[in-house]
Amino acid sequence: MAITIKSEREISLMREAGKILAEVHDKLAEIIAPGITTLDIDRKGAEFIHKAKCAPSFLNYEGYPASICVSVNDEVVHGIPTDKRRLEEGDIVSLDAGVIYKGYHSDAARTHAVGTISDEDAKLIEVTKQSFFEGIRMALPGNHLHDISSAVQKYAEGHGFSVVRDLVGHGIGSHLHEEPQIPNYKPVGRGPKLRPGMTLAIEPMVNAGDWKVWILEDDWTVVTRDGMNSAHYENTILITDGEPEILSLY
Ligand code: MF3
Ligand code: CO
Repeated sequence: MAITIKSEREISLMREAGKILAEVHDKLAEIIAPGITTLDIDRKGAEFIHKAKCAPSFLNYEGYPASICVSVNDEVVHGIPTDKRRLEEGDIVSLDAGVIYKGYHSDAARTHAVGTISDEDAKLIEVTKQSFFEGIRMALPGNHLHDISSAVQKYAEGHGFSVVRDLVGHGIGSHLHEEPQIPNYKPVGRGPKLRPGMTLAIEPMVNAGDWKVWILEDDWTVVTRDGMNSAHYENTILITDGEPEILSLY
C-alpha cells in the first residue's frame, strides 16, 4: 500500500482524534506520582478515552492486552500495565496512547518524571522531546522523509544519547500503522518525498546509553540491553503546504 494523502474530511477527523488524545495525555500527566501502579494509569487512560466517545486503539492490537503502554526507566516502549508495578520517586515513565475517533487514529507518547528525578534523566526527557521538534522542522513539502530521521538522530546523539533503531514511527490514518516507516536515524536526502495531506506519527525513542534493545518474555516490553534509561516522545502530525501541523498537541 502506498502512502495515503488525506482528504479535508479525513484531516478534520484526525484533528479531533488528536485533540482528544492531547487531553488524555494532559489528564494522565496529573495523576503521575509515587505510589500509583502502572495499571492505575491504564484504567484512568481507558476511562478518559471512553468518556470522549473514542476507543483505545492499542487494546487488542496484535494481542496487546491494555489501552496504554506504560514503560518505566529502562523499558523503552510497550510496557504492559500491571498492579504489581508501583511507580517510585525518581522513576521516569513513558506513556504511549492511541485513540480512534470515527474511524481515524491519533497516536502520541510522553515521558514523565515521578517526583524528583536525576539531572541526567531530566536531560534525557528534554532531549527526547526536543529531538521530535528538531525532526519536524524538516517536515516540509518536497523534503525527504529521512531528513526528519536525520535531524532527530543528530540532535539526540549530539547530546550524548542514542536512538533506538529496531523501532520506527509510521504513517497513520484509518489504520494505526500505515506506510511509510519512519526511522529515527538515517542519512539526509533519502526516503519518500513529503507531500501535503500525509499524516505521520513521529516518535523518537532515545536511550541514555547504547541503542540496543531486547524484548522481554512477555513478548511486548522492549528494554535497553545495557539497563540504562530510555525516553519516548511522539505526536501525530500533518504535512501541509507550509509548516507541519501537530495534531496531538494544543
Ligand atoms: N505508539 C506505538 C506504535 O506506534 C504503540 C503501538 S503498540 C500497541 O507502534 F500494540 F500497543 F498498540
Ligand atoms: Co506510534
